[in-house]
Amino acid sequence: MTERDGMEREGACWGRRPVIGAGLALVPWLVRPARADDDPSELHPQPGDRLVFLTGPNKGHVIKPDDLPLGGPQVQAYPQSPDGVLRDGSRLNLLIVARFDPANLSPETLARAAGGVVAYSGVCTHQGCPVNAWSDEQKMMVCSCHGSTYDPRDGAKLVFGPAPRALPHLPLKLVDGVPVVATGFSERLGGESA
Ligand code: FES
Repeated sequence: MTERDGMEREGACWGRRPVIGAGLALVPWLVRPARADDDPSELHPQPGDRLVFLTGPNKGHVIKPDDLPLGGPQVQAYPQSPDGVLRDGSRLNLLIVARFDPANLSPETLARAAGGVVAYSGVCTHQGCPVNAWSDEQKMMVCSCHGSTYDPRDGAKLVFGPAPRALPHLPLKLVDGVPVVATGFSERLGGESA
């Protein structure tokens, strides 16, 4: 566990608090601007970061929409800064990324997708296991620890299992045909005790 992960648990959380007020909707958790003494590998995804394959034949390569199978399954990834720093210093930075026909995405999910590509936290909101399995029958992402099942076409909402909430959503935008981080995560990262 890094010091920064500990801060997440304790709620210090880099000032990335949801802002709710009269007449205001929930807005994405704010991304604290990087400081000179930050370890860039531990920073959570920053606007402009690209997504990089964690495993497989494309390991280490920047994800482009056509690299992903249409309709799933998801791939695991980490954010990478524009100058090439892989942000793998926090286990909470694990991402899962998939591509769908935009016509099959909910309006909220479509607004956060780029070229049909969606990105979520890869850390289960139950007890923090990686969400590393896929149900081809349901077209949904599954945590293999206790079976929590999330719908990637509808904001990774929980459809089955013990997890208490959806996976945090990482909004994307297309820059020169490449999905990059648009804003911070939609919610707090990690499981109930992580
Ligand atoms: S940690 Fe994912 S379902 Fe329990």
